[in-house]
Amino acid sequence: MRNTSSFPIYKNQPTIPSEENPIKKISDNCNIASGHKHQNPRKVYIETYGCQMNVSDSELMSGILTQAGHRTVNDIDAADVILLNTCAIRENAETRVINRLEHLNHRKRRDPNLIIGVCGCMAQHLRQKLIDAAPYVDIMMGPDAYRDLPMALNAVVSGDPFLGLQLDKTEDYADIAPIRKEGIRAWLTIQRGCDKMCTFCIVPFVRGRERSIPLKLLTDDVKRLVEEGFKEIVLLGQTVNSYHDGKHDFGDLLWRISEVDGIERVRFTSPHPADATDSMIDAMQNSPKVCKQLHLPLQSGSTPVLERMRRTYTAEEYTELVLKIRDRIPQIALSTDVIVGFCGETEEDFEQTYQLMSDIKFDSAFMFKYSDREGTLANKMLKDDIPEKDKARRLNEIITLQEQISSEINQNTIKSVVPVLVEGDSRRDSEQYHGKSDTFKTTVFPKENANIGDIVNVKVHSATAHTLIGEIVN
Ligand code: SAH
Ligand code: F3S
Repeated sequence: MRNTSSFPIYKNQPTIPSEENPIKKISDNCNIASGHKHQNPRKVYIETYGCQMNVSDSELMSGILTQAGHRTVNDIDAADVILLNTCAIRENAETRVINRLEHLNHRKRRDPNLIIGVCGCMAQHLRQKLIDAAPYVDIMMGPDAYRDLPMALNAVVSGDPFLGLQLDKTEDYADIAPIRKEGIRAWLTIQRGCDKMCTFCIVPFVRGRERSIPLKLLTDDVKRLVEEGFKEIVLLGQTVNSYHDGKHDFGDLLWRISEVDGIERVRFTSPHPADATDSMIDAMQNSPKVCKQLHLPLQSGSTPVLERMRRTYTAEEYTELVLKIRDRIPQIALSTDVIVGFCGETEEDFEQTYQLMSDIKFDSAFMFKYSDREGTLANKMLKDDIPEKDKARRLNEIITLQEQISSEINQNTIKSVVPVLVEGDSRRDSEQYHGKSDTFKTTVFPKENANIGDIVNVKVHSATAHTLIGEIVN
């Protein structure tokens, strides 16, 4: 995997969205989430792998546990429960978790009371196989069972490992208040699951059917987030733009969220090209709060490969969509996902992907080698027949291409002025701030008199493939 942008999805770095919370008084209503009384307040450390949806789910788990009287901690050594919130999208994501579990088991040997849980997509995907590989795991819990976390902690106390692997097509956690890290950007899950069934993808099998959270609840959430100090909302869903709550579509949602008082910016990830309706494009074009940035997964530039992937669009249709969006919103920044080495991908197929990427010129791209996932349609129907060395070469070729394109596009912003939402101190220099431009480019500049949370105009004076460097102008 290689990521040429700073967009934080698929980063695969463990992140810890937990927060020190005082132990709340244990009361009868502390078990609303689970319907079960906890017997023993726990200190829980949650380690998150994979996509932004998992980070958001960890915030949800943190909310459920806190509501039940437990608390989440930032220090793994202080924890008596360690939950890994895992990813199953590619083989290497699972390998990392297995290695991590082996490491944690050393600690469990010294401290047999330590509870180790595996949550999320990998638990749902591997099930018994994971229990066989790591029999010391106390809790295995898929994405639709998080309400049972407090009950699971009790069950472990009584000596039984706990399995929560039922998918539930109605579970949307709409009544749970997630616990987020303070900041200026909040991620808000608006939809769970996926109905698309791309042949390479494990997500529909581990996250179940698509469900949208009613718009009224989401606008209430956003009002609360504004009160908590957040300025930017990133709407999350597997095919976020297929959102429909029975009355409102994704375009309606974009408008309504961006009209909440105090919201400065609205973004979303990841849309599916087949659901890029005029209603979505209108809202992006006409709402000043909706950022001019779109992540539009392509996957392949070859129509026969797209067909085998069941992406439901051709390369030509994808290109037409890009032209239409660029015509309506000329300043839009586009990013994408590409898979190389999918079943049966010939050199010509790959060249078409390469050519399409050169023609479209994405601002950035997440690029992957195809990874065969047990249980997917491709795993059942097609052959993973591209040799590893060809997958690696193809990946390197598009990474090199994309680096050049990203660098060129960013160089072209030199001398222009970009609006930047100030996020915090630059990692390298505490005299400087970092923030994102409207087009989601990391921008670094001297602090002057600006404050975190301000939107400032930054004149760009230099740029790399990943960062704009400039100074505040009035
Ligand atoms: N619609 C979801 C997709 C999640 S998967 C979303 O964007 O949130 C994210 C990306 O991982 C996909 O777009 C695809 O490019 C890549 N991916 C998914 N399954 C894969 C596999 N089996 N091998 C390699 N890459 C894969
Ligand atoms: Fe996966 Fe395709 Fe859904 S990539 S998440 S099955 S849109």
